[in-house]
Amino acid sequence: AFANPIVTNPKTCERPNLPAGAKPIPCCPPKIDSDKVNDFVFPTKLPQERVRKPAHLLTPQEAADYKEAIKRMRELSPDDPRSFTQQANIHCAYCHDSYVLKGSTAPPQVKVHFNWLFAPFHRWYLYFYERILASLINKPNFALPYWNWDHPDGMEIPAIFADRRSSLYNAKRNANHQPPVFIDLNWNKKDIDTSGDFADNLSKVYRNIAAVKASDTFFGLNFNQGGGKSAASGTLEQLHNTGHSWTGDPTDPNGEDMGSFYSAGRDPIFYCHHSNVDRLWTIWKDKFCGEDFPDDDYKNSSFLFYDENKNLVRVTTEQCLDPSKLGYKYMDVPLPWEFAKP
Ligand code: C2O
Repeated sequence: AFANPIVTNPKTCERPNLPAGAKPIPCCPPKIDSDKVNDFVFPTKLPQERVRKPAHLLTPQEAADYKEAIKRMRELSPDDPRSFTQQANIHCAYCHDSYVLKGSTAPPQVKVHFNWLFAPFHRWYLYFYERILASLINKPNFALPYWNWDHPDGMEIPAIFADRRSSLYNAKRNANHQPPVFIDLNWNKKDIDTSGDFADNLSKVYRNIAAVKASDTFFGLNFNQGGGKSAASGTLEQLHNTGHSWTGDPTDPNGEDMGSFYSAGRDPIFYCHHSNVDRLWTIWKDKFCGEDFPDDDYKNSSFLFYDENKNLVRVTTEQCLDPSKLGYKYMDVPLPWEFAKP
């Protein structure tokens, strides 16, 4: 039997199993001088709370800060664990079998999709990414915006990402899905333009969030239930998949950047998309009585990240279950899907 928790170690990171057609890249983190692992401790003196806002509602100053932070991240040397390249590689390594599942002698097989690791892994990933951006512009309360695609005003690529002169721009996106084209949350890769049809989007969010009761339906199944394989994704992850395939460039064989795990983190919109996914997790708990898994295997699952000071930190799932302890929250906006029962 395979055991959660997973404890991954960059020293044992192996080259990823990439899909055919992908340019081979080593996704493992760089070796840095002190790769001593520290257990995560909650910040005792939190900076002013960080409030994540919809990307389309940022003030000019907030937008300027965000662009500047990403610009500085892009300027870091690619072997700096805080750099743009390394941040993207984190996703690649955790999604393509670079890490060993604790207690397993099988080849590396850790995946953070199609199982219950999806929600906590991505929460932590964003947490460190946000801390790094904050430190690069020296604004402790910098908060990552969210792509508010569950509200009609947010159902297109936010303008700040579409400006070619901006550090948030990425060329590898679907040319037919540029603003003001509405995102279609039911898109199945046949390019039907449903621009303006947001009612279907709202009922999709209703079905995947508001209508879901059971934790395993929402989050996906235990990694163990697949015998060390990823057994099934939950409705939260399923809802988020369209944001990837719809945004990526269909002329690339793997839909780079957003359409493939190994490349998705190279598009700054990835983190903004996931900020909304993370937000929907908090809303599911706060408004719809959703519950996190009580299982120790879940709570003790662990991941490793480099923080804003380039220290390697081990975090557990349990430590991320309450975002207020991590010092951030989401700006409240109307939830037009709340009663959008199909
Ligand atoms: Cu790890 Cu949106 O994917």
